[in-house]
Amino acid sequence: KDSYSITLLPGDGIGPEITTATVAAIQPFSKLFKMEFKEALIGGAAIDATGSPFPDATFEQIKASDSVLLSAIGGPKWDGNPREQRPETGLLAMRKGLGLFANLRPAKVVRQLLDASTLKPEIVDGVDIMVVRELTGDVYFGTPKGIETTESGERFGYNNMIYYEHEVERIARVAFDVARKRGKRVCSVDKANVLDVSQLWRDVVIRIQKDEYPDVELTHQYVDNAAMQLIRWPKQFDVMVTGNIFGDILSDEASMLVGSLGMLPSASVGNPSGPGVFEPCHGSAPDIAGQDKANPLAMILSAAMMLRYDLGRPEEADLLETAVDNVLDQGYATADIMRDGCKPVGCKEMGQRVAEALEKLL
Ligand code: NAD
Ligand code: IPM
Ligand code: MN
Repeated sequence: KDSYSITLLPGDGIGPEITTATVAAIQPFSKLFKMEFKEALIGGAAIDATGSPFPDATFEQIKASDSVLLSAIGGPKWDGNPREQRPETGLLAMRKGLGLFANLRPAKVVRQLLDASTLKPEIVDGVDIMVVRELTGDVYFGTPKGIETTESGERFGYNNMIYYEHEVERIARVAFDVARKRGKRVCSVDKANVLDVSQLWRDVVIRIQKDEYPDVELTHQYVDNAAMQLIRWPKQFDVMVTGNIFGDILSDEASMLVGSLGMLPSASVGNPSGPGVFEPCHGSAPDIAGQDKANPLAMILSAAMMLRYDLGRPEEADLLETAVDNVLDQGYATADIMRDGCKPVGCKEMGQRVAEALEKLL
């Protein structure tokens, strides 16, 4: 195949800026194959235009595309909205609607950024972790849920943390499959000492390993310990597999091993008969939106994951990652990864620099 239709979801906050920079960065690939980009609405931008954070038209367009590049959604403007009219609800509906139960979040330390991390260089040097986060279950989607009032007039809020066996089985298989192509070690993170849902999680992960992946080493950590171990000695981890909310938290934490949330890409996959969604781990960064300050590399590296996992172009994925590496070698840095002696660039210029570097590799 040499032509791909890609839905772009520019979203909110820094979303449009990093989307523009990402499209510019991968433009040189048009020498090799055709990329047809088509924008669609999601999140706050979609609420403003249509009243819904995930309009049917967007869903239909996505289902007809080969892949989806999402920047980020959300912002203070919509924070007071009722739940069904919040940008985040649109993002969750998209993931669920497309069956994207597996979220791969690689935290691979780049040697040029050793001093960008808040941790000591000898702690982070060589870190290469893949966080496999379950994405369509857990307390995010459990019912019943809500805010209600007791007879005595006190309000209470509740969500239901629930996992079905089949959900744990399939995410465990993703983690073990990923591990087989890496260091063959999986650490499953849960709270089985307290939560029944975690006890089930642990039982199922153990069974899948025993029956199907005896060649992969499996260990377990409680999530509180895992949060600590991640900054104490992160090199102990190869693949971490965990539920939706623990994975959300631990992946933001892992981003600081690399040096910035603006460096962490992700792939939301799991439905082989439909498109995946490729999205940075970070949010819409309202504090720096519209100022050309955002780091587009997390989204550019997400585009590399799209090439690898959805478009069947692993060589081009490698080339794009090499181009990013070369730009970091040249010392270009947005504010979040600025170090001594680096050349400051904005979001737009960072995208152009990656395009130039990629051009040279083609
Ligand atoms: P955030 O990730 O948007 O920002 C956290 C901090 O990291 C901010 O200081 C921000 O400036 C910085 N940052 C994030 N991305 C950056 C980048 N590319 N370059 C440089 N700095 C970057 O998290 P938040 O502030 O807690 O949330 C803001 C909004 O984003 C909320 O509405 C939240 O729900 C939403 N959100 C969306 C997604 C998503 O779309 N996948 C993910 C997380 C948060
Ligand atoms: C992420 C975000 C989302 C999540 C929010 C915005 C719904 O934090 O992609 O990490 O919690 O999954
Ligand atoms: Mn998050």
